[in-house]
This record gives sequence, C-alpha cells and structure tokens, in this order.
Amino acid sequence: MAALLVQAILIGYRFIDTAYSYGTEKIVGAALKLLFDAGMRRDEVFIQTKFYPVMPYDGESVRKQLEESLQNLGLDYVDSYLIHQPVPRYSELEYTERNISVWKEMEKLRAEGKVKHIGVSNFLERHILQLTEACNTVPEINQLEINPQFQQRGLAEFCRKKGIAVQSWGPLSVTDEDVQSALQLIADKYSVSKAQVALKWNIQIGNTPICFSKNIHHLIENRKLDFELSDEDLEAIRMCNSADAHRKTWWYPRQQMY
Ligand SMILES: NC(=O)c1ccc[n+]([C@@H]2O[C@H](COP(=O)([O-])OP(=O)(O)OC[C@H]3O[C@@H](n4cnc5c(N)ncnc54)[C@H](OP(=O)(O)O)[C@@H]3O)[C@@H](O)[C@H]2O)c1
Repeated sequence: MAALLVQAILIGYRFIDTAYSYGTEKIVGAALKLLFDAGMRRDEVFIQTKFYPVMPYDGESVRKQLEESLQNLGLDYVDSYLIHQPVPRYSELEYTERNISVWKEMEKLRAEGKVKHIGVSNFLERHILQLTEACNTVPEINQLEINPQFQQRGLAEFCRKKGIAVQSWGPLSVTDEDVQSALQLIADKYSVSKAQVALKWNIQIGNTPICFSKNIHHLIENRKLDFELSDEDLEAIRMCNSADAHRKTWWYPRQQMY
C-alpha cells in the first residue's frame, strides 16, 4: 500500500486523504518517509486527516488524537484536519456543545500551526450553523458524500455561499444501474470511462472529488480529465440524483436525526 502511494505521488497526485479511524495513517507515514528521504519537500504534498468522534469527544480529546495522528504520519503538522462526523459514536448524548468545544480547540491547533486548515465532514447545514454561531471561524472545508446518484446539491450550495470548500467523498461509488447507463452514454461521447465522467462532473459543479484506487491504471486514468461536459450532459447527470442513494453508514441515521 505504501508503494502504491509512492507511485501515486510519482504520477502527479499531491493530496492524500486519510483519517484516524481508517487505520491508514501509519501507511501514509511510511510512504511519506520514503518520499522525503528521496528528496521530496514537505510543502509538495497536502496531507489531510480527520478527528474521529469517539467519547469523551471534547477539546482535550481532539488535541490528544491529533498528536497520535501526527506521530502515525511522522509529521509535525497536517495541511488540513476535519471533524469526521457531526455525531459521536457509541453515545446518544447531546452533541452540539461537544462539537463546539472540539471546534474551539481546532481553532487553537490551527493558531499553533499544528494544522494549516480546519474543516468538517458530513456536516449538514444546521451542524455548521451551530458552530458558526458559537465560534470565531467558519469551517474551511466540508467533505461530503457526493456522486451522480447522491448529489446533496442544496448543502453543497450552502457551503459554497459560506466560503466553505466542498470535497466529495465516494465520487465513483455509483451503484444504481440506470445511473451507470446514463454515465456510460456520456462517456462514449468523449471516449472516456464512467469514472472520468463522474470525476469531471464533480469538478465542473465546483467540488473537489477525493477518489480511491488500488489500481495504478485507474490512478492514471482518473487524472486524465482534459474534456469538458456540455450543459446537456450536466443536466442529464443532474437528473440522476436520488435522496436515498447514500451509503449506509453507522452515522447516517444519527446525522439526519440530531
Ligand atoms: N468523510 C467520510 O466520511 C468518508 C467516507 C468514505 C470515504 N471517504 C474518503 O473518500 C475516498 C474515496 O471514497 P471511496 O473509497 O469510498 O469511494 P470511490 O473513490 O468513490 O470509489 C472507489 C472505488 O472505485 C474504483 N475505481 C477507482 N478508479 C476507477 C476507474 N478509473 N475505473 C473503475 N473503477 C475505479 C476503485 O477500485 P480499484 O481499486 O479497482 O480502482 C474502488 O473500488 C476514501 O478513500 C476516503 O479517503 C471519506
């Protein structure tokens, strides 16, 4: 895995998305060590990781978890640090005050230079407003599940209006066969793959897709996006949206409820 990451950097990738909960930070750290030893500068890569909201889920726990993440990565700062979900795991406790206390600590961590940018992930409009009403700063990033079958257009638009950059996770995770057929029709027009269409669509609507692959050929293909989708293509993909076509995660029902 570390070797694949090194290959990805060598073919031009510069942004690595990881998270405390993925258990991949040490692998990223191993790949970075190889690259730094070979002469790559720290400022040539952008490393993002995420705070996992397990209890006690407060300011102190975010500082401790970031220290562990930095150790795993072998870094003295990360380029961006996100709250992974707006609701804590293994707890039904009220979460708003906890999010606020975590965010205030993240503001301090940014001021100290341990993280360059701070943001959130899977936060709905109300979760963001709870932070901005109580804290000094607006999240710089919201990483959301966005792909042609689950577009979250209203939420993404709200983020953009607030100056929050939208990153799209799961940008290639299209399971609906009708949506796949619609993407294939467009892909055939430009002699590209469905994956390339899905990535280009995300970029053209203003998001940064964060995609994953273990396959070097896919990694190469996913960077070849030198074509432009027409308004007609964008409209055809817009019609593929379905409000319940999201991934079934532990936090989704809680994110909707609280
Ligand atoms: N914030 C969150 O809550 C959250 C949740 C989930 C994920 N994420 C982040 O988002 C990243 C991407 O999401 P994801 O991994 O869930 O899904 P994804 O990037 O939408 O899909 C990954 C799948 O697409 C395949 N793929 C990649 N390029 C392809 C191509 N050109 N042609 C055909 N298939 C291709 C990969 O298979 P191959 O390996 O065979 O290429 C893999 O099975 C994750 O790595 C993670 O960093 C964040």
